[in-house]
Amino acid sequence: MSTASEAEPGRLVYTAEEILSGGAYAEPLIANEVRCHGGFTQDGDYRSPRMLHRGPGIDAWKEQLARDGHELIDVPPSITPPQYPNTAQAKLLLRNGVQEPVVRALTIISIVEGFGAMIRDVRVPKLDALFVENIGGTALVHLRGALFEAHARDESGYREEGGHKQMWEAARDEALENPKIPGDVLMRIMGRRRNREKTGPVFPEIDPKLERMLGFMAQVMVIEIMAEGTFEWGIDILSDPEVSASPKSAGEMVAFIQQDEKPHVEYLRTALSEARARTIKTVDGKEIAGKVVVDEFMHRILEAMTATRQREQREDVRGTLVDAMKVARNPKSLLEEFDSLDQAWTPPESTGFISTRTPSAA
Ligand SMILES: [Fe+2]
Ligand SMILES: [Fe+2]
Repeated sequence: MSTASEAEPGRLVYTAEEILSGGAYAEPLIANEVRCHGGFTQDGDYRSPRMLHRGPGIDAWKEQLARDGHELIDVPPSITPPQYPNTAQAKLLLRNGVQEPVVRALTIISIVEGFGAMIRDVRVPKLDALFVENIGGTALVHLRGALFEAHARDESGYREEGGHKQMWEAARDEALENPKIPGDVLMRIMGRRRNREKTGPVFPEIDPKLERMLGFMAQVMVIEIMAEGTFEWGIDILSDPEVSASPKSAGEMVAFIQQDEKPHVEYLRTALSEARARTIKTVDGKEIAGKVVVDEFMHRILEAMTATRQREQREDVRGTLVDAMKVARNPKSLLEEFDSLDQAWTPPESTGFISTRTPSAA
């Protein structure tokens, strides 16, 4: 007999309450005295939050997509530029008592995680009226109030439970022993967001809410995939006893966050692939292939992010690097050594997605 709390592999339809439920844990996750989401099994294994039904649901929607003969979109990890400062550079700074650039990088990550809460505010149009084909039993119909809400809670915490924002802060503060947090981090991020160009709709013929939703999902998915490199970086630095005061728990904390991110990438690529496999009704009664729309967004976002991400990270760090190095014994030779550890990186030649709309006249 099945009960509401039991996962049923292959099931395609869930209530929002089910998607948001995590089941019981033998022990909670406490990060720097903050109760966080997820928890541990009797054997001490970490279990991500809200995965009792969300995990099997995502698997089932992916299997359905494959059964119907449709592709699951993918982004190769080679699209991600290396983190700046890179692992060797960050460790060099920390060994020389220069914490600020690493603290800044970790604080940016925690703030951006907190911004993940915005995904619950994405307006979801009446999707069944906008696609020609049926969307019953897909990830798409579970976005509103369920998959988006679970994602928002994972990133920024929910009620008294901390999420990734608090988990990164805890890892940072444990590993670097409650460092001084630069006061301008949030202001700089916000300033850059304001300066981003606003562009008009790419597909004026489709429902504007649908365009915004698909564009936002593609953007978040690319950010999530690029974050993979950040996790490897964070684990490597924060679990190195030479530079981390809390190598075990700080390194593990980042690994828990990394585990929690898997369903984010997976539900987004599944839902985008479902939209891509369908036909979208236009506002003037015609039709457009979902593939044309989704691939256009994926292409544009990948192209823009591979071009800007590395530059923006460098600007963030370089702007205060020389000042931060003043606390070192020999700042000049430290800067030289730091720069000698730099890694060249060129983005891959193709995004892997085909753009059919020329960007509006530059
Ligand atoms: Fe996250
Ligand atoms: Fe995420």
